Amino acid sequence: MRTIRIFPSILNANFEKLPEEILKVSETADFIHLDVMDNVFVPNFTFDFERSVEIIDSSALPIDVHLMVVNADHFGPQYARTNAQSVTVHYEACQDVHKTISAIKDLGKRVGLAVKPGTPIDVVQPYLSDLDMVLVMTVEPGFGGQKFMSEMMPKVRTAREWLNDAGLSDTWLQLDGGISLETIEVGATAGADTFVAGSAVYKSDNPAAMVSELRRKAEQCLS
Ligand code: DX5
Ligand code: ZN
Repeated sequence: MRTIRIFPSILNANFEKLPEEILKVSETADFIHLDVMDNVFVPNFTFDFERSVEIIDSSALPIDVHLMVVNADHFGPQYARTNAQSVTVHYEACQDVHKTISAIKDLGKRVGLAVKPGTPIDVVQPYLSDLDMVLVMTVEPGFGGQKFMSEMMPKVRTAREWLNDAGLSDTWLQLDGGISLETIEVGATAGADTFVAGSAVYKSDNPAAMVSELRRKAEQCLS
């Protein structure tokens, strides 16, 4: 049976008090998802490398870095040298996908490969056996609070089939964007097991309880 994981994204948390914001979910969440944006790959900026390191080093939970930056071949390994546990690069931002994911893995970190909504899932297939996670974006990367794109579910079903067929049960299938109590079941039914949730968690009155509730809803879909 698949294990469901919930990764709160701090994109919509209070940036002035991130250690406290992370502590709010430390009893119920698996990892914290750190959205790094450079205002080039996406039209928004979040954290530079130094600030990212501060957040990573002050977090009560392991960190899953989502790099929405150009030149992922450089930044992927750079973030893998921090105390982050997982580093995801975008396919669209890599010149040499194989080299970059190998470098991250060689530094002892979990490695993920992400695809934007307009990128076919087929580009991921050649790298599947080298990956620890596949990230199918369910919004256009750049901002929190956008609407979940259910039209991405065929990509999720395809990736789930490939993983099952190859026996890659330790490779996580992550969705990011618009995950809420209303949408998580659609994603879990399609085959995802790892869910990033930003505004659903941090705009909730009780972020810790929201994480548990999201997990419970997704687990109900597992057969
Ligand atoms: C979007 C980011 C997401 C974002 C999700 O580019 O990659 O991680 O924080 O936020 P919600 O859950 O509000 O869509
Ligand atoms: Zn993200």
